[in-house]
Amino acid sequence: MASSAPSTTPTPHVVVMGGSSGIGEATAALFAADGAAVTITGRDRAKLDEAAARIGGKTTTHRMDATDQGDIDAFFTPLSLTAPIDHLVVAVSGAAGSGPFAELDLDDLAHGFDAKFWPHLRILKAALPHLTERASVTLITAASARAAFPGTSGLAAINGALEAMIPPLAVELAPRRVNAVSPGVIDTPWWSRVPEEQRKELFAGLAATTPVNRVGRPEEVAQAINSLATNGFITGVVLDCTGGANLPTGR
Ligand SMILES: NC(=O)c1ccc[n+]([C@@H]2O[C@H](COP(=O)([O-])OP(=O)(O)OC[C@H]3O[C@@H](n4cnc5c(N)ncnc54)[C@H](OP(=O)(O)O)[C@@H]3O)[C@@H](O)[C@H]2O)c1
Repeated sequence: MASSAPSTTPTPHVVVMGGSSGIGEATAALFAADGAAVTITGRDRAKLDEAAARIGGKTTTHRMDATDQGDIDAFFTPLSLTAPIDHLVVAVSGAAGSGPFAELDLDDLAHGFDAKFWPHLRILKAALPHLTERASVTLITAASARAAFPGTSGLAAINGALEAMIPPLAVELAPRRVNAVSPGVIDTPWWSRVPEEQRKELFAGLAATTPVNRVGRPEEVAQAINSLATNGFITGVVLDCTGGANLPTGR
């Protein structure tokens, strides 16, 4: 893109796509606590309103589905955006595409790409003209991208594809900065699809094999995102936030 939006405003404008829950909400709350003007998006109006009330500060909400190009275009029109974007965080999730490879339904994996990979690229492309000259972009990938967890080859493909784009995008879009945070297992509403007892058992098992002895909190990933976004000398980086779960030896 040839043009970029005018220089940064005194109050930074932070857009968190997928900011009504989990890691996105925690990130929006952290920026808001620092005095930023925050815009959060998501598909569910009630979730957005509840998250905005919890976040407080100068929080704007916008209902949109990141799998819908029309919704993305409508969000990134000058009329719906109150100000150029200083920090863009993409936290929209998908859940499809996991399971042992021998049983993996490739249509399900394609849905996984439709829910996470393509929305990220569509959002980023549409956002370009609205990013300030020294804006940051932070994506959220997953430890599965570079770990050898059984049953995650499909998730590795989705998140690995995003991680592979970080260095070339950082160079191509400079002086804007592009980074990613790669979380391990984080206790967010994403996991509510797993029945509570089963989830507790799963988290306990994961904690036992993780060097820090527990799963992560969304606020911890938010801190990692905030650090990458606000440090003007970091770009092209994928930062692990896994409690050591993806280290080659563990303990
Ligand atoms: N939690 C983990 O253990 C973990 C581990 C590694 C990586 N991650 C990654 O971290 C990111 C955030 O996950 P999370 O755990 O915070 O999930 P979450 O609690 O389910 O939050 C996801 C957010 O994205 C929104 N969203 C989902 N699909 C959307 C769509 N099509 N269009 C617009 N908004 C959408 C959700 O709101 P609506 O549902 O209302 O749209 C919600 O605000 C995801 O990319 C996930 O893959 C999570």
